[in-house]
Amino acid sequence: MQISWHGHSCVKIETQGKVILIDPFIEGNPFSDLDSTKVKADYILVTHAHSDHLGDTVAIAKRNQALVITNLELGSYLETLGVKVHLMQPGGSYQFNIGKIKMTPAIHGSSLEIAGVPVTLGLAGGFLLYLEGKVIYHAGDTALFSDMKLIGEAKIDLAFLPIGDNYTMGIEDALKATEFLNPKQVIPIHYNTFELIKQDPQKFVEGLKPKQAQIPKVGAVIDC
Ligand code: NI
Ligand code: MN
Repeated sequence: MQISWHGHSCVKIETQGKVILIDPFIEGNPFSDLDSTKVKADYILVTHAHSDHLGDTVAIAKRNQALVITNLELGSYLETLGVKVHLMQPGGSYQFNIGKIKMTPAIHGSSLEIAGVPVTLGLAGGFLLYLEGKVIYHAGDTALFSDMKLIGEAKIDLAFLPIGDNYTMGIEDALKATEFLNPKQVIPIHYNTFELIKQDPQKFVEGLKPKQAQIPKVGAVIDC
């Protein structure tokens, strides 16, 4: 399995000959190293409708015939645009060919601007992925919530947590979240992309046990 981070909340996982993209925000992401017209995807997981997460999902999904896995309301909308979808809701899991994927709750909005008006499309979520005997958690955008202790019962190997503050947890709450989730490894995401979410990820790393956090270079393979 090869896992890499591509700026903001975008994560790529290559497993069993398939490519999973999570929150493929490429165009307009100043730190992305991906080409939205070339990137491969078999599955695209979208945590919520905000444009910095939905990103280039529609174009990538159509070009690759990828399956988009997201909440029922956002997914139903994407289906009207000609995208192949699998609809889920927070708390639900499904056994896909590549492994089990569970949608987890998040405390956050999920709106998309359609014809100039923000329309709420379902609930924001995160994902637990069970792949090749490992458990990966992508929190999406969220506030800290104490049920992260329950999510942590999945025995997480690798967690991606937002630290940018303003729209999501900041560093202090992300440290508390790490305590609740107790992952073997944690990677900070959703910071520095915009002025409002400027953070020093080193401060997050310093608040954790030695070697519990990694700050990967964009596009680099992450140890898991
Ligand atoms: Ni958001
Ligand atoms: Mn966001």
